[in-house]
Amino acid sequence: MNTLNNEIAVITGGTGAIGSCFAKGLLTAGAEVIILGRGRTKPVDDAVKEILTEGTLPADSAKKLSGYSCDVSDEEDVRKVLSRIQAERGVPTILVNAAGGNKGKADFVDVDVDIFNEVVQMNLLGGLVVPTKHIARLWIDNKIEGTVINIASMASYIPLSGVWAYGASKSGVMNLTAGLAKELAKYGIRVNGIAPGFFVGNQNRDLLYTDFEKDILSERGKQIIAHTPFGRFGRLEELNGTLIYLCDKSQSGFVSGVTIPVDGGYLVDNI
Ligand SMILES: NC(=O)c1ccc[n+]([C@@H]2O[C@H](COP(=O)([O-])OP(=O)(O)OC[C@H]3O[C@@H](n4cnc5c(N)ncnc54)[C@H](O)[C@@H]3O)[C@@H](O)[C@H]2O)c1
Repeated sequence: MNTLNNEIAVITGGTGAIGSCFAKGLLTAGAEVIILGRGRTKPVDDAVKEILTEGTLPADSAKKLSGYSCDVSDEEDVRKVLSRIQAERGVPTILVNAAGGNKGKADFVDVDVDIFNEVVQMNLLGGLVVPTKHIARLWIDNKIEGTVINIASMASYIPLSGVWAYGASKSGVMNLTAGLAKELAKYGIRVNGIAPGFFVGNQNRDLLYTDFEKDILSERGKQIIAHTPFGRFGRLEELNGTLIYLCDKSQSGFVSGVTIPVDGGYLVDNI
């Protein structure tokens, strides 16, 4: 199980649903884990506590997990946090770009351009470009053959109605995953992606449910489930096997530039 014993993983969006679950998966696989969060919905220290208290983790997890505040779309913030991490925890070897999300839904002719811009900033700049740029520079300078995992979406492959900026930015995530895999291969750095189907996170709960507490799905939630051959949303921990595989050089050392769907068959749904 401890295939990632010598790895130090930084997870952006580690205060979110998927990022927190990734933290548990990587701790279980033996890695040291650092979560980054900007603390708008949950302070990063609270997220660390929650990760450590929910579920069963290896006994040394409290020593191996730490959290830092950082707005990952802000270059200066990312630069500063990476030097703190290096000084306090060592040089990271894995970057998981799990910050991102959506805001609102509208017909294209009613799109609010400021919100469009914010969503692109969140998914493309904060969600990939800024952290990857700085960590890749660090790895190149220190001759570290690190691994980046990006989080794409079903919207990377096919547009989902009304979430224009989300779709455009998630297509960009898949495109950059391929482009960066090629550019960084000469340094031994791998860049891959995971494209989750539909999992309940903070950013999409209101799109999927009319009333989450009472388990009442929205029309969109119902449509998604009808369009998912497995007939349900994903369970967050179902993403962790793919994450660990992609992080583990002994298993995926020759795999770079791919984005793996984990979607209950959503992409192959047909009549
Ligand atoms: N939940 C799903 O079904 C699903 C499906 C496909 C892709 N995704 C993607 O997975 C990723 C995680 O989603 P989630 O469902 O866990 O959402 P979430 O809202 O629970 O978590 C996202 C986290 O990212 C953080 N974040 C956003 N911008 C940030 C910034 N600039 N700096 C620091 N932190 C920032 C938020 O604070 C939040 O904690 C996102 O990229 C999302 O688009 C989710």
